[in-house]
Amino acid sequence: MSSIKATFKPGNCSVYVLSGTSILEAAGRAGIVITSPCGGGGTCGKCRVKILEGNILATSIEEKILSKEDISSGVRLACQSKITSACIIDIPPTSRESAQQILTKGIQNKKEIKPSVWKKYIELEKPTLASPQANLNLIREAVKTSFHADIYVIRSLSAILDEADYKVTCVFSDGELISVEKGDTTGTDYGVAFDIGTTTLVGTLLDLNTGEELALVSRTNPQIIYGDDVISRINFTITDKDGLDKLFYKISREMNDMISQLSKEAGINIHNIYKVAIAGNSTMQHVCLRITPKSLAKIPFNLVIREPVEIKAKKLGIDINSDAFVYVLPSIAGFVGGDTVACILATQLHKKNDIKLIIDIGTNGEIVLGNNKRIIAASTAAGPSFEGARISQGMRATIGAIEKVIINEDVEYNVIGNTAPFGICGTGLIDGVAELLKTGVIDETGRIVSQSEYKGNENIRRRIIETEKGNDFLLVDGHAARSKRPIFISQKDVRELQLAKAAIAAGIKILQKELNVTDKDISEVYLAGAFGNFIRRTNAKRIGLIPNISSEKIAFVGNASSSGAKLVLLSCDMEKETEDISNQTHYIELSARSDFNENFMNEMMFSEKK
Ligand code: FES
Repeated sequence: MSSIKATFKPGNCSVYVLSGTSILEAAGRAGIVITSPCGGGGTCGKCRVKILEGNILATSIEEKILSKEDISSGVRLACQSKITSACIIDIPPTSRESAQQILTKGIQNKKEIKPSVWKKYIELEKPTLASPQANLNLIREAVKTSFHADIYVIRSLSAILDEADYKVTCVFSDGELISVEKGDTTGTDYGVAFDIGTTTLVGTLLDLNTGEELALVSRTNPQIIYGDDVISRINFTITDKDGLDKLFYKISREMNDMISQLSKEAGINIHNIYKVAIAGNSTMQHVCLRITPKSLAKIPFNLVIREPVEIKAKKLGIDINSDAFVYVLPSIAGFVGGDTVACILATQLHKKNDIKLIIDIGTNGEIVLGNNKRIIAASTAAGPSFEGARISQGMRATIGAIEKVIINEDVEYNVIGNTAPFGICGTGLIDGVAELLKTGVIDETGRIVSQSEYKGNENIRRRIIETEKGNDFLLVDGHAARSKRPIFISQKDVRELQLAKAAIAAGIKILQKELNVTDKDISEVYLAGAFGNFIRRTNAKRIGLIPNISSEKIAFVGNASSSGAKLVLLSCDMEKETEDISNQTHYIELSARSDFNENFMNEMMFSEKK
C-alpha cells in the first residue's frame, strides 16, 4: 500500500502515512501532540483541526459533536477523521498538546508568568554638585528593590549611564543586577530551555515576557561518538584521562551552536538571552557541569550533586549575556535525573489528588507513580530495544525505518520519509509483535509458531520462515518493496522486546505494590518522550508494556522534560517546585529489590493480552 502525504500547519511539517491513519496519529508522527482528553473516543471534541486542502469526509461521530457550519468550513476531530488522500491540515494552538498546552498545566495564564529574570526601565536624575549620588545608589533608589551587583556590571556602569543619558534598563536575575543596558530594552527578554538527552538534544528559545516559543532546535547529542548509552559515556570518562573534558566540550559547543541557530531563526541578539535552564538525566547533567559522573556507574550509583545548580553561563562556556545564569534542575537519584523532575513539574503530578503514572521511554525508561501525598520513581534499562539496538534489523526512528505495522489479510507497513524500508524502529517492532500476537503467529509465550501450527491465511503463513534457531517472520519481501534487503522480525527480536517491556512492566508493578495501588486506581498514564508520542496505545497494552487501562486514561505529553525546563524559565516559583519535587520523590532501586527477580521478569515477559 502506498503512503499519503499529510502536511501540518503552522510549521509546514509533512509526513507520509498509510491510508486510513487518523489525523491524531499522523500528527504524532510529525512530532505534534494533539490534545486528546477523551483518549480519542470522539466524545470531548477537544482535538479540533481544520482541513485546508484535501478531501476528508466527516464521520457520523463528528456530525454529532461538530456544528454544520464547522463541518462545512473544514473542521474535523483529529481522533475520528482518517487520511485517505494528500491533505494540508491546520492545527490551532488550542488543540496542540506539546508546547503551550503542557505549559498551561503548570502556568494557568499569562499573569502567572514571572520569570526569575526581569527588566526595569528607569530614567535617573543626573547627580549634581548639590546632590551627589553614587551611580549604583541612584539605581537602587529607582528600582526600589534590594539586589546584589556583580563587579563586572559595576565596572561598566559609569560609561553606560553617560552614554545613555541616564536612561537605562536594568536586568535582574535571581536577585542580582546582571546587566545595565542603554535605553528601554524591556521588550527583549529571552531564555533558552534545554532537554539534554543521551541521544537527542532539544533547545527552545522563549520570550520571557510572553511565554511564547520563538524557535526550536533538535540535534543528535554529539557525545554519541563516545558511546550510545550513559554507561559507555561514564566508562569513557574512566578509561580516557581527558574523557570528562572531551564530553563536556562536545556538549557545551553544541549548545552554543544551537543557541546561535535559535537566535538567528528568531532574529534576536544572543546578549538578550539572560537565562538557560537545563534538564537532563543525571549523567548528562553532571557532564554539563563538568562534574565526573564516575560514581553513577558503580553501586550504590551515587550522585555527586542532587540539588539544583545555578551558575554563571560564562563559567560553563555558554555564550549568552555575559552575566546571565544557567539553572540545572535538581535530580532524584543516580538514574532518575532532572529530566524526570521536569516531567513531574510539567504534568503537575505532584499536585494531583488522583494517582498518576508517568512512563518516559528514552534510552533509559523512567517511571513515576504518585500524587500530592507520595511520589515514587524508578529507572529501568529498557531503551536500547525500543531505539533499535539489539534488534537484528533495528534502527532509530529516522528515514527508512518501518514505524507502523498492520496485519490483516497481508502485511501493511509505513516507512518514515516514504522511502524504501531499511530497518525497523521501536514503534514498528511493538506494532509488529502486537499484530503477530493478534493473528496467532506469536503465541502467548512469545514464540513464533511454525507454518504447520499457524491456522490463518496463506499470505501470512508463507511469511513464517523456519530456521534452526527458531522461526522468523518476513515483514518485507526485498523484491516486492523497493527494499534493498528483506526485513524480518526474528524470534530473538521478539525475546529482546519481551525483555525490554518486561523491565518497564515489572518496574510499574513494583511501584504499584509499593504504593499499594492497582491498575484501577491509576486515573491517568502520561506517556512522555519522543518515543511515547508514537506508541499506539492498543498495541502497547496488547504486549503488556503499559497497564491495561482504558485508552482515554492514557495521554501523550510529548517532550515533558523540555516542557518542565521551559516552566522553570517562565516562573521563579517553578524553580522552587523542582526542589520540592526532588526532595519529595522517593527513589526505588529496582535491582536492590528481592522481588525484582528472574521469576518476576519471566512473569512480566509472558503477560501479553490479546
Ligand atoms: Fe478527539 Fe476527544 S474527541 S480526543
